[in-house]
Amino acid sequence: MYNKKRKIKKRPIIIAIIIVIIIIIAVIAFKLYTHYTSNEYKLDKLGYNEKEISALLKSDKKVLDKALTKYDKDLIPLTKQKYFLWKNYSIYKEYITKKEKETNDIDYQDIVAMVNVKRNYDYYTHTKKTDMQQENAILVNKYFSLPDKYAPTDVVDVSNWYAFDGIKTRQVVLDAFKEMFNSAKEEGYTLIINSGYRTYEEQKKIYDDYKELKGEEYADEYAARPDYSEHQSGLALDIITYGASGETFDQTDAFKWLQKNAHKYGFILRYPKDKEEITGYAYESWHYRYLGKDLATKVKKSGLTYDEYYAYYLDKE
Ligand code: DAL
Ligand code: ZN
Repeated sequence: MYNKKRKIKKRPIIIAIIIVIIIIIAVIAFKLYTHYTSNEYKLDKLGYNEKEISALLKSDKKVLDKALTKYDKDLIPLTKQKYFLWKNYSIYKEYITKKEKETNDIDYQDIVAMVNVKRNYDYYTHTKKTDMQQENAILVNKYFSLPDKYAPTDVVDVSNWYAFDGIKTRQVVLDAFKEMFNSAKEEGYTLIINSGYRTYEEQKKIYDDYKELKGEEYADEYAARPDYSEHQSGLALDIITYGASGETFDQTDAFKWLQKNAHKYGFILRYPKDKEEITGYAYESWHYRYLGKDLATKVKKSGLTYDEYYAYYLDKE
């Protein structure tokens, strides 16, 4: 009787111990399984370091998925750039490889900016026709051309109250300029247009003359080739003030007034100082592009050149 009692008590203890062991094994197996199948483990195996792994685990799914395909040292610095575009990924990589032959110090912001505006390519290569559906917002530069021998149909003469003799521009641009002219005048500044719409032939002559006189490299820095000029689009004006030349205009109060106010009337300074690499042109304190008030204000606020703004916000391809 006494012996039987002892036997009955032992069995549940053994069963309990077995259950506990099974649970411990299951927990360990589960932990090992989750570890070896985790993104953290996979990223580590691919060669990402601790800092990179922690950044990747916090990043977008698209970035993480790309990281999980292979080690890519440029993935994190590229994707964290404000104006990064996925469609340009392989081109950023090609451009980085090219730059690494020249320097150890890769500036990712610069890589993104240059590739977005196609400046990784030589001038007038990889060109395409600009999207005329964008109307006043069209991009015209060394990679985006106007249609062949384009000529706008709403060009009007500008009175010499506003411009030097024989200048024409588009009606919408003239209306905006008049408004800007009057506001500047009220504050004591006189703006004067010294170039407006140029035909294909006029632009060709300007470019060819520069080229003949100073060579192609110089010509490309200062003048657009025909079909690639904003002047031929009818949407650009060269503006100065009395007593100033192109060289001295940016030291005048009229220029400072434009810097502060042009966007309110729909104009932006198109080839700013220190952005020559991006725009592909020397600084032109006199060249203003009409975009319309809303867009000009957005571009001004962004601090971007129009080439960069268009690439990031407006290019539909
Ligand atoms: N000077 C500007 C770039 C033009 O020729 O259109
Ligand atoms: Zn100009």
